[in-house]
Amino acid sequence: MHSFKELLQDFDKKFSVRHFPNDPATLYDSSQYILGLGGKRVRPVMCLMGNELFDEINPDAYHVATAIELFHNFSLIHDDIMDKAPLRRGMPTVHAKYGESSALLAGDVMLIMCYEYLNKIDDLNKKRILSLFNKTALEVSEGQQLDMDYEKKEMVALDDYLRMIQLKTSVLLGASLKMGAVMGGASEGNVNHLYEFGKNLGIAFQIQDDYLDAFGDPEKFGKQVGGDIIANKKTFLLIHTLEVAEEQLKQELLHIMQTNPSDKVQRVLAIMKACSADAWAKELKEKYLAIAMDHLEEIAVLSKRKEPLRELAQFLVQRDH
Ligand code: IPE
Ligand code: IPE
Ligand code: MG
Ligand code: MG
Ligand code: MG
Repeated sequence: MHSFKELLQDFDKKFSVRHFPNDPATLYDSSQYILGLGGKRVRPVMCLMGNELFDEINPDAYHVATAIELFHNFSLIHDDIMDKAPLRRGMPTVHAKYGESSALLAGDVMLIMCYEYLNKIDDLNKKRILSLFNKTALEVSEGQQLDMDYEKKEMVALDDYLRMIQLKTSVLLGASLKMGAVMGGASEGNVNHLYEFGKNLGIAFQIQDDYLDAFGDPEKFGKQVGGDIIANKKTFLLIHTLEVAEEQLKQELLHIMQTNPSDKVQRVLAIMKACSADAWAKELKEKYLAIAMDHLEEIAVLSKRKEPLRELAQFLVQRDH
C-alpha cells in the first residue's frame, strides 16, 4: 500500500515524458505546455488508489491514469476558452498564449492521445474501461453545456447546480477510482460504493473550487480570482445569496450582474459576504464529504487499506489551489 504522496511521485515520474511528436511545433508545443504547468494530478492518482485498494497495481492502471490526466487537461484547455480565463496553474492559459484556434487543436490532440493510451490496455478490461470512459466523457460535456446555459439565466435552483457540477466534475473523479477498482478485480458492490465515494467527494471538490474562485488567495489559487463572478456563473455562492438577500440587496446584485460595472467583482463579493454565502460553503462541503465517507466505510476491505483515500478526501476539500 502507498500513500497519496508516494503514488503521486510514482505517477509523475512516468507522466513527465513528452506525450506528443515534435513537429510541427506550433501544433504540439501548446499541448505539452499545459502539461508542463503541473497540476495536482488527483484523478490519475485516484485511479491508482482505486486499484491498490483491492490488489497490487496492474501495469495497465498507469495507461488508464495517463489517459485520465490527458482527458482532464483536454477539458481544461477547452474550458478556459469557454470561460474566457486568462490564467491556469499560475500561468497564461493555452488560448491566451497561443490563440483560440491553436488551443482548440491542442485540446483535440490531447483527447486523441488519451485514446492512444487507452488502446494499450489488456483486452480483458478494455471494453468495460472504454465504455465507462466514454459515458463519463459525455457527462462532462453535458455538465459543461449546462454550466454555460446557466450563465444566461437570472437564477438557477440549488438542485440544478448540484446536478451540473456532478456532471462536469464529479463523475470524472468517481470514474477514475472506478476504473482503478475494475483493474484491481474488485466486486460489483465494492466498485459501486467506491464510485459513489468519488462522486460525492467530487461534489465537495467543486464546491471548494467555486469557493476559491471567489474567496481564494490569488497568490496560491493559480487562476483568476473572481472569474466566476465576471462570467455570471451560477455557483452555490450566488444561488445562496440570491435566496437569502433582502429584496433591495437582491435587486442590486441582479443589476450588477446585468450591467457589468468595472468594480463588479468587489461589489458582488461584498454582497455575498453580507449574506454569509462564504460561511455556508463549509456546511455544504461537509454534507457531501459525509456522504462520501459513508460509502467508503461500506467497502468490504480492511479499514487500514482505506487510509490513503481518507487522506485524499481531507486534502481535496481543504485545498487552497
Ligand atoms: C480543475 O481541476 C477543474 C475542476 C474540475 C475544478 P483541478 O483543480 O484538479 O486542476 P489541476 O489539474 O490541479 O490544475
Ligand atoms: C471546469 O469547471 C470543469 C471542467 C473542466 C470539465 P471550472 O470552470 O470551475 O474549472 P476551473 O475553475 O476553470 O478550473
Ligand atoms: Mg473554468
Ligand atoms: Mg468552466
Ligand atoms: Mg472553477
